[in-house]
Amino acid sequence: MSDAAATESRTAMATITFSPSGETIEVPAGTSLLDAAILCELDVPAPCAGQGRCGRCRVRVTSGEVERRSNAGLATTEILDGWAVACQTYVGGSAEIEVPERRREAVRPHGHAVAEPESLPIGCDWRQDPAVRTFELDIEPPSLADNTSDFDRLRRALAQQHGIEEVRAELPMLRRLGTDLRMANWKVSVTLEMRDWVFGTYLPPRLIRIYPGAFSHASMGVAVDLGTTSVVAYLLDFATGRVVDSASAYNKQIACGDDVISRIIYAKRKRGLGRLQRLAVETINDLLEELQARNGIELYEIHEMTVAGNTTMTHLLLGLDPQYLRAEPYIPTISASPKLAAGELGLHANILARVHVMPSVGSYVGGDITAGVISSGMFATDKLTLFIDIGTNGEMVLGTKDWLLACACSAGPAFEGGGVGSGMRASAGAIEDVYISDDTWEPTFRTVDDAPAVGICGSGLIDLLGELFVTGLLDKSGHLDLEAPTARVRVRRGVPEYVVCRAGEGGADHDINLTESDISSLIRAKAAIYAGFEVLCRSVGVDLADVEEILIGGAFGQYVNIEKAIRIGLLPDQPVERFKFLGNTSAQGAYAALLCVNTRHDVLEVAAKMTYLELSADNTFMDEYTSALFLPHTDLANFPSVQEALAKRGAGPTATPESP
Ligand code: FES
Repeated sequence: MSDAAATESRTAMATITFSPSGETIEVPAGTSLLDAAILCELDVPAPCAGQGRCGRCRVRVTSGEVERRSNAGLATTEILDGWAVACQTYVGGSAEIEVPERRREAVRPHGHAVAEPESLPIGCDWRQDPAVRTFELDIEPPSLADNTSDFDRLRRALAQQHGIEEVRAELPMLRRLGTDLRMANWKVSVTLEMRDWVFGTYLPPRLIRIYPGAFSHASMGVAVDLGTTSVVAYLLDFATGRVVDSASAYNKQIACGDDVISRIIYAKRKRGLGRLQRLAVETINDLLEELQARNGIELYEIHEMTVAGNTTMTHLLLGLDPQYLRAEPYIPTISASPKLAAGELGLHANILARVHVMPSVGSYVGGDITAGVISSGMFATDKLTLFIDIGTNGEMVLGTKDWLLACACSAGPAFEGGGVGSGMRASAGAIEDVYISDDTWEPTFRTVDDAPAVGICGSGLIDLLGELFVTGLLDKSGHLDLEAPTARVRVRRGVPEYVVCRAGEGGADHDINLTESDISSLIRAKAAIYAGFEVLCRSVGVDLADVEEILIGGAFGQYVNIEKAIRIGLLPDQPVERFKFLGNTSAQGAYAALLCVNTRHDVLEVAAKMTYLELSADNTFMDEYTSALFLPHTDLANFPSVQEALAKRGAGPTATPESP
């Protein structure tokens, strides 16, 4: 082919028709089928963000010309049948592509369904003092003798009847003001946002809604915990301060990547960022509608919202390009969000409802952590406190009321069940705690909801690793004892593994095991987190033993067995009384900020006060990490309780192991 012909063929356009939707699009040859599907806004799952690793973006080429660059995980029969990996298959000419119907995942993640709590536990000093208030007004109707404008008339009534001297209103409100007042015969209730401020200066109250007559509506707020995996929304009544209901769902962005890095990669695709923003909004809207339907309220009665999420999630919700979060020197576009109204974001609350996004501190210490620090109360205590939130990233904050130092380390998805063969999220059937007999090496376990065993979730993995270690089936370097007289330890396809549940046991329909490579992922994850603790402490000249309180936030923390987490060297070996589980601190902080205006000031102050330590720029992190790549640690002297447990069972080393 001549150069000219080659150029022409490279730039040739092709028509792609998707079935069963019937969507058609013209794209240049060389476009991936995944990109073409995204341009058509089709729902093709892409958990690895199009890196060709997950094999989940399958489509079927029913006719036409495509170029396959990889068939990640497809069987030959599937390839012959036209199946293709969309992100690795490129348009050659016009083609017809079938997008399989998606099997919907259950939308209620385990542990997040809150059965009508009345309030969330808040560790900080706060009081019920919401910004949203409603006032009834009897406005004098206009006449030829009094031709004051409608808005000035309303202002006058507010000043005379409630002592509120000034009020402001935005255009959408003013557009309907004349009609609203007349329809209500000048007797109205006005809902105002009080004590809004900008750059430390309070603004006059802002008009959010006018209701006819005496106030007989609900005045509600919603606090949202926007997690990478799951999203929880709490509906609260401003009149009582009570949480009246909550709803949760998986974050719909999961279809575009399992973790924040995959989503940042996905956002780079054409229209990828738009799709991620839309999916975040859709997820929250679904929850708002669920809460509306269940509680008989109107969506316009949701007068204010708060959102706490990690820095990537809040960037995506706002439609901000997250690319610079993962490129050195890891800079977010914003730390504190601008003033936002629900309508601007597409949220199905009152369009003028203010949405307060909790401020972040750095690329990997986000609003979920500032909300957590607030709700834990650590920002106001004299005690040296360590706050930790373990997920894909281990985020931690050390400090007292006088100073706060934060860092984040990438633990990978292992503790959330990702990247581990039998790993899974904490949903029905997940093995969540394990005990192994040191006589028979037989396991006993419990599953979430007592359902037939399906896999192992994070808390189960920590338990299992700890049990294998103290029973001597696993050595300090993470190698299984192949000589152990138990058929539970075996070698399959050249990889040693421990079978925690055989097909048929506990209702399982397949073997559930932990391989040496899973163990290695878990050890790397725990080493990263423990190294974070050490670096944080050393950088301010304190020892982990000096920490008076260790607060564990986040959904994952609720289910962790402290003793077993210490056993594997994930948590420091401190007396159990020093540890406190706080639950979902991100949601708790968002709730406190919704109900207490002063708490919003505190969150901003705390975020501004927190110093962010970038571990990738810290010379000692790698050394600490390497030292922690043992069970429980290279320096066993730091783990006296583990040393004691090993000695008691006669299962392990009591001497310090050699360096790696
Ligand atoms: S293999 Fe295509 S999105 Fe993962």
